Amino acid sequence: MDGINFHDISLRVNPQRDLISPVYNYERAPAEILADVDSAGLSAKEKMILKFLAYGGPMTHEQAGDAGLRDTGLIKWLEKIGLIVCIRRHGERSYFLNHLSLVSHNLNWMSQTRVEEAEKNILYFFIDLPVGFQMGHRRRRATSQLHQTSYILLQYLKLFSRTGALKGPLAVDWGCGSGIQAISLIKLCPEIEQVIGVDVDPHCLWLFNINAALNQCGPKCRPVVNDPAGKNVLNAMAGRQIHLAVSNPPFNAIPPVCEPLNSDYGNGGPLGIRHLKHFIEQSVPHLAAGGTISCYCTLARLNTGDYALVRDCLTDEFCRTYGITFSAKIMDIPDLHLSADLYAKRLADLVAKTGDGPSNPGNPLTSEIAAYFKSSGIERFVPVILTVTRNARRL
Ligand SMILES: C[S@@+](CC[C@H](N)C(=O)[O-])C[C@H]1O[C@@H](n2cnc3c(N)ncnc32)[C@H](O)[C@@H]1O
Repeated sequence: MDGINFHDISLRVNPQRDLISPVYNYERAPAEILADVDSAGLSAKEKMILKFLAYGGPMTHEQAGDAGLRDTGLIKWLEKIGLIVCIRRHGERSYFLNHLSLVSHNLNWMSQTRVEEAEKNILYFFIDLPVGFQMGHRRRRATSQLHQTSYILLQYLKLFSRTGALKGPLAVDWGCGSGIQAISLIKLCPEIEQVIGVDVDPHCLWLFNINAALNQCGPKCRPVVNDPAGKNVLNAMAGRQIHLAVSNPPFNAIPPVCEPLNSDYGNGGPLGIRHLKHFIEQSVPHLAAGGTISCYCTLARLNTGDYALVRDCLTDEFCRTYGITFSAKIMDIPDLHLSADLYAKRLADLVAKTGDGPSNPGNPLTSEIAAYFKSSGIERFVPVILTVTRNARRL
């Protein structure tokens, strides 16, 4: 993005975002977020660029010229691949990013890195604009998003890469979404020759493709639509073993009462581990000796002190059969350690606020969800990074 320091502009509105906070705080209304942009001390040009690229605002043909955007490779590229929508009204042309938002992330973990190196490690991603920011009648559900957990897994992978343990040549990102983990892995580990990004949502995979090209690693990224039997992934693996599998799977524990309201993005089944279990079962048999799986998940802790994950996903027999060991590192992130009641409230609020469900005040879902957790013996939820390693020899 010649001449425009978009990363710097967007960080000035939300300095925390480069670490582990999400791009959009879904608990705040779009108007509040835009008010932050207005009061962030940006120049008029910077504000316009940020509103256009990150928050779905309009940009006239003249403004694009004034901002120097019309002549950059970015705008030409966006036009060429149809990401920009152009609306003509009263003889004036206005551009919109097609319900998308551009976000950035700095992969460097050392603040004193030289400026030119820092620039090289900034990733740019298109994700979906939240419904609340979208304009016109064709607003669509945002399936490709980034969440706090996306950044938690990414931070973990960055630290992991420092140990030299991120190994190639074949990596798989289960539930890759728009590709944040897959693309970062390629940047963090030069040994990786290919990352297979697996998702059920073709729209996410379309964005993964675009994002891979945007970050100049298209040839190393292979988007694959997951099918229930996992055949597409097996075909893409072409008999090779996996050296590294990562996943930030849909992890919300979704009781049957709100299941129809939730999207593929977050629905992890009643205990939150439906996809985790599926991903582990699909990848472990193909893991190379010494290969690892790193997943973010939210574990339900039962009244018995038991963690549902251990019982359901990684039984002793499963570990013995495949010669694997695992560890679950509980993350010290206080706002993600939730009692079942608070989790129920957050879930009901999320359903209401994302525009996917009813938004009546005093949402009755809260009590229904809490009652479900109680009857299932769930006491609380904790955030975890789960690491599974395949031993060189079978146990
Ligand atoms: C929590 S998002 C993670 C996205 C991205 N990897 C990140 O870290 O931000 C979970 C992703 O899993 C995908 N997903 C849901 N069910 C799936 C399935 N059965 N197979 C593959 N991907 C699935 C969703 O479409 C979504 O993109």
